[in-house]
Amino acid sequence: MANKILEMKNIYKTFENCEALNDVSLYVEKGETVAIIGASGSGKSTLLRSVNGLVRITKGEIVLDGEVIASSNEDTEFKGIKGGAIKQKNGSTEAKYLPDNLFKEAICETGMVFQHFNLFPHMTCLENITYAPIKVKKIPKEKAIERGLSLLEMVGLKNKREEYPAKLSGGQKQRIAIARALAMEPDIMLFDEPTSALDPEITGEVLSVMKKLADRDTTMIVVTHEMGFAKEVADRVIYMDSGRIIEEGSPEEIFYNPKTDRLKAFLSAMIKTN
Ligand SMILES: Nc1ncnc2c1ncn2[C@@H]1O[C@H](COP(=O)(O)OP(=O)(O)O)[C@@H](O)[C@H]1O
Ligand SMILES: [Mg+2]
Repeated sequence: MANKILEMKNIYKTFENCEALNDVSLYVEKGETVAIIGASGSGKSTLLRSVNGLVRITKGEIVLDGEVIASSNEDTEFKGIKGGAIKQKNGSTEAKYLPDNLFKEAICETGMVFQHFNLFPHMTCLENITYAPIKVKKIPKEKAIERGLSLLEMVGLKNKREEYPAKLSGGQKQRIAIARALAMEPDIMLFDEPTSALDPEITGEVLSVMKKLADRDTTMIVVTHEMGFAKEVADRVIYMDSGRIIEEGSPEEIFYNPKTDRLKAFLSAMIKTN
């Protein structure tokens, strides 16, 4: 059986008066690149964020690398904890999660890259990359630096090792953010519209780093508006609308043979704006 790095089962997320995720199920196998497409507000970010705890799910189950990290299912036992729902002050519920320390350990297996790079401004590029491996993973400094330099080389920015983020272009910042996430050697990389904040002429340099990662069989989920990238690089494409997965398939199926009117309309709108 194929090796599933991530499994999300029947996930719901309700914000005050909005169903951001409505019965979403998805898996990612080792080495796969999964692209998620869909209009703004369809729940793509909420889905990614629920994997690393930035968003806590209302209902469902999340299994990361074989370990249950959240579950609202009473029958689930994880790390000695029984699953189920926790009632919140405002009357809503939240699935049970691993206790904070174990959860933090588990989500070290995910690397997240955001639309806005979120680099540490007071650290050089190399320090940005080596900080978490040294502090969190307790990797010896020399080893972290060695690996940091090879990651800088991989993203084509070895000459910027002593530079501070403020001196970099948006595309360079994003390449550093990717290197920083990879430095923790995560099992899965999560990209949330990594090129949306960039000028069109520099999105290519970031997409080509991501393509390189995909070619090296890095396991990744990429939320993107770059249909060309999804078509060319993804193994599987997921189309979301209104908090649900509407269609899922190979790039050929999604882009050349869409089944639903909603996806057809979305794709033709994307062609017009690109
Ligand atoms: N922290 C939040 N509080 C309240 N509503 C939110 C929050 N985050 C997202 N939402 C709502 O959830 C829905 C899905 O949002 P999001 O996941 O950001 O969509 P996408 O990334 O596809 O644009 C939207 O209606 C959005 O307004
Ligand atoms: Mg989003």
